[in-house]
Amino acid sequence: MASAIHPDQADQASLTTATAAARYRGTRKTARSGETLRPLIEVIDGVWHIRSLPLARQVLRDSAGVCQAGFNAEAIDSTGIRKPVLFQDGEAHRTMRSGIARYFAPKTVSTRYVDLMESLADELVAQIATEGRCVLDEVTMRYAVQVAAQVVGLTSSDMDRMAGRLQEFFATPLVPAKGRPNASLVARVSGKVAATLMALKGQRSMWAFFLRDVRPAIKARRATPGDDVISHCLEQGYTDVQILIECVTYGAAGMVTTREFISMAAWHLVEDPALRDRYLSGDRQERYAVLQEILRLEPVVGHLYRRSSAELTLTDGDQSYVVPAGALLDLYIRGANADERHVGQEPLQMCPGRELPPRTSGEVLSFGDGPHKCPGNHLAMQESDILLQRLLRLPLVIESTPRIGWDDLIAGYEVRGLRLRVENR
Ligand code: HEM
Repeated sequence: MASAIHPDQADQASLTTATAAARYRGTRKTARSGETLRPLIEVIDGVWHIRSLPLARQVLRDSAGVCQAGFNAEAIDSTGIRKPVLFQDGEAHRTMRSGIARYFAPKTVSTRYVDLMESLADELVAQIATEGRCVLDEVTMRYAVQVAAQVVGLTSSDMDRMAGRLQEFFATPLVPAKGRPNASLVARVSGKVAATLMALKGQRSMWAFFLRDVRPAIKARRATPGDDVISHCLEQGYTDVQILIECVTYGAAGMVTTREFISMAAWHLVEDPALRDRYLSGDRQERYAVLQEILRLEPVVGHLYRRSSAELTLTDGDQSYVVPAGALLDLYIRGANADERHVGQEPLQMCPGRELPPRTSGEVLSFGDGPHKCPGNHLAMQESDILLQRLLRLPLVIESTPRIGWDDLIAGYEVRGLRLRVENR
């Protein structure tokens, strides 16, 4: 971050280079008490806690030596169930990813979803302008659900009602499935997706989602296949329940994450006029540099987990570490994204365009890396940019700052109750 400039000391007009680094007044809003950036690696009770960027990246990129152990993947009794893409490993995972890749390619996103995202964003922002205020997380939920629904093929029901059902589902404590000895434990500690697999019979809100949204979409796709995830699953012989599990996975992986990110980005941008001006006056590369820096600073998924399936040798500079087979690796994405040896000084400071190591994108590990890297990353960035550009052109002020809630399993944040008002209204 050698070229850091403070906007108060520099003419903003001189920051014309797309990647010019500038430090803004914002810092990580989701700082948690007791959270530290060091040590970079430590082993506690056999669990490897990793905050170093190169080490976390090596683990994520290792396609042969580690398995998915996040989102309670290991608590799933997968007998008779085809696991969703997030929980697959090895060859089955590669096949699944190549089957769905075409729905997420940047060209597909730009050609197939941009019109929809633009008209949806126009509609939502016009409503805010008319009403003079909004609770932002309600707006971002409606938007993120409708966009991801197109990719998945969940388009045969009322979108706003579906957003409400999903919201209820993700907010409801889980009811364990009967007859599963460890189900209550899983329900208490698990993420929604894993617990869904354990608790298929117990979730009223999930069944409402199945009956009103998923089943009609399956019926429509059986009659007329589309170019979407549900049609792909039908082609592969998935049962209705397996398709439901995929839809819940996409609900958690795509809709919820993007909603939280857009809310967080809007909070930073409304609060800091210099940052907002830089974002709004920039070209696409410049705007993305701002959004990626917000996502680096505020990763929506704070921890990822893997289990070593073979002995691993990890290297950070001239230090090497040998991880035995069978060890759990807890990857601190919040820490790795702030590893100042690689992301520069003041890693918890907002500094779009900061100097990063070669082949590191601006959000660092916030979309993961390696075989499980988020396939929805282009979609999420473009989708966020389209709504935020329109939203921020309104003269907005913060009426009340949000509460931050936490999903402890993945250290994922929730931004709730951010009330915005159109100035002079
Ligand atoms: C800002 C928004 C988003 C963030 C921060 C995010 C973050 C992530 C992360 C960190 C992973 C990796 C999980 C791991 O390595 O264990 C992931 C995977 C995934 N994401 Fe996203 N995501 C976002 C948006 C989306 C969207 C819009 C979609 C689709 C509509 C999506 C679909 C998925 C899927 C299907 C996976 C599993 C991929 C696999 O396991 O191979 N995500 N996401």
